[in-house]
Amino acid sequence: MCGIVGAVAERNITAILVEGLKRLEYRGYDSAGVAVYTNDEKLERLRRPGKVSELEQALVESSLVGRLGIAHTRWATHGAPCERNAHPHFSGDLAVVHNGIIENHEALRAQLTGLGYVFTSDTDTEVIAHLLNHKLKDLRDLTVALKATVKELHGAYGLSVISAQQPDRLVAARSGSPLVIGLGLGENFLASDQLALRQVTDRFMYLEEGDIAEIRRDSVQIWDVTGQAVERQTVQYSDGAEAADKGEFRHYMLKEIHEQPSVVQRTLEGRLSQNQVLVQAFGPQAAELFAKVRNVQIVACGTSYHAGMVARYWLEELAGIPCQVEVASEFRYRKVVVQPDTLFVTISQSGETADTLAALRNAKELGFLASLAICNVGISSLVRESDLTLLTQAGREIGVASTKAFTTQLVGLLLLTLSLGQVRGTLAAGVEATLVEELRRLPTRLGEALAMDATVEKIAELFAEKNHTLFLGRGAQFPVAMEGALKLKEISYIHAEAYPAGELKHGPLALVDNDMPVVTVAPNNELLEKLKSNLQEVRARGGELIVFADEKAGMTNGEGTHVVQMPHIHDILSPILYTIPLQLLSYYVAVLKGTDVDQPRNLAKSVTVE
Ligand code: F6R
Repeated sequence: MCGIVGAVAERNITAILVEGLKRLEYRGYDSAGVAVYTNDEKLERLRRPGKVSELEQALVESSLVGRLGIAHTRWATHGAPCERNAHPHFSGDLAVVHNGIIENHEALRAQLTGLGYVFTSDTDTEVIAHLLNHKLKDLRDLTVALKATVKELHGAYGLSVISAQQPDRLVAARSGSPLVIGLGLGENFLASDQLALRQVTDRFMYLEEGDIAEIRRDSVQIWDVTGQAVERQTVQYSDGAEAADKGEFRHYMLKEIHEQPSVVQRTLEGRLSQNQVLVQAFGPQAAELFAKVRNVQIVACGTSYHAGMVARYWLEELAGIPCQVEVASEFRYRKVVVQPDTLFVTISQSGETADTLAALRNAKELGFLASLAICNVGISSLVRESDLTLLTQAGREIGVASTKAFTTQLVGLLLLTLSLGQVRGTLAAGVEATLVEELRRLPTRLGEALAMDATVEKIAELFAEKNHTLFLGRGAQFPVAMEGALKLKEISYIHAEAYPAGELKHGPLALVDNDMPVVTVAPNNELLEKLKSNLQEVRARGGELIVFADEKAGMTNGEGTHVVQMPHIHDILSPILYTIPLQLLSYYVAVLKGTDVDQPRNLAKSVTVE
């Protein structure tokens, strides 16, 4: 999604702004721009559709330099991705960058047009620039004018403004879209994600909802939603954990796929005793709250939703707890009937997904027992606003297609299942000890699955010329098939759909012919024989089968049937293991197709707008 970087310093800041934008590239965007108050005391901007590298090239040619500036990567919501719609937007001698959506932009546009302002873009953001310009005429001070402006904005924003009238400051406002101030020595910075500023500082101050900030070279002032001057805590990072480089790998996605044994290991660390899950891993009040839980409602989006779908099988089968799972964009707008004593669980890599956050905020009004976030970012809004948290330890995920975040979410959800079952006494005898043992072995099993890299790369060739694919699974492997299909469509742009294998004959079988490969994730349980019959249905129609099956399942290659033998694993953990070859498959198909693996078209890493 969109990214913001700003700087006020004694030195030239254009290179800092561009480097900041590059560090935000992983979030997905389709145009980029920068506005600088130049050393000639003029406000100037450069904007380019496409990559930050194109903007950088244009900047080199323009020799735009200055000590105050803002920059932006835009992911189009209102208006096409083109130079005219790229940020910063100007009005008179002020420039605005904005993340989020202004919902009342049409009414404001009409009002401002009536006042004589001329719009040059199709964006919602441009209303902020003109409204602020209008307020500035009477109020004369940029910070005061911003305070008055945000009172008239409905929707979500993280925004920053500079003005040639008051070139001593950056001003910023946060409501629904994160902003962080980076503190330097005699210079200060702003960004939508601290990663953009790790190049210049390790000290950060996070703005809270409703905050307005005035950032000068040597001071930062913040006012909260009520207009009171407030201090926000300074957080200092000392590690180099944010280093974002691909190492020996060609793409971040491949690197992140290969990190799964170690991040799963890290997600388990400190959370298991000899033969039990440590319930307090979910927070000090977890044991008391879990004892009261009679139902679970899971809400998430995309890949995180698929993790929730797997968890439903575990929660009902192992812990005997009824569980519902829903995508956040539906849940948030639906009249929901809440069963008594229901734990509300959100799952999110970023913790900033707009729909998931809105669902959590709605849930607070609906009488849930408590909220739990399973999240990869400890300083995210979702974590801050939830009663309980389990942090996955996937580390920063740069590839837009989620991989290691998903498998660590699954680990977190299995820990949740066992914790709920343990506290409520609903687990069958010996189950917890067995699964704790299996979890300990999981990183090794994942390493074995990764060793199948070359086999999967070969299989990927079967897909290079295809336009459509079916993914089949049964039981908890059905959501794994859904995740496999999502990965393939996201990065290779091949149409892929997932079905529970038993549904095949109820419609999708009509699609099967020799141009439609069928990928199957075989369960190693009582459903295996049923799945084998489903596969016969495919073969009988000439469909080519790619089957990922347990090495002990007795499935072998045949005419039109490619069986990939998977390391043997406990059935409950198989969704985590079988995810690996599906990730590798989509990766190698995308490489063969020559797509932009890490930044697939039209997608953003963190979907902070509705
Ligand atoms: C797919 C993918 C998305 C995200 C979804 C939710 O590869 O990454 O489907 O899973 O946008 O994002 P988070 O987990 O950050 O809430």
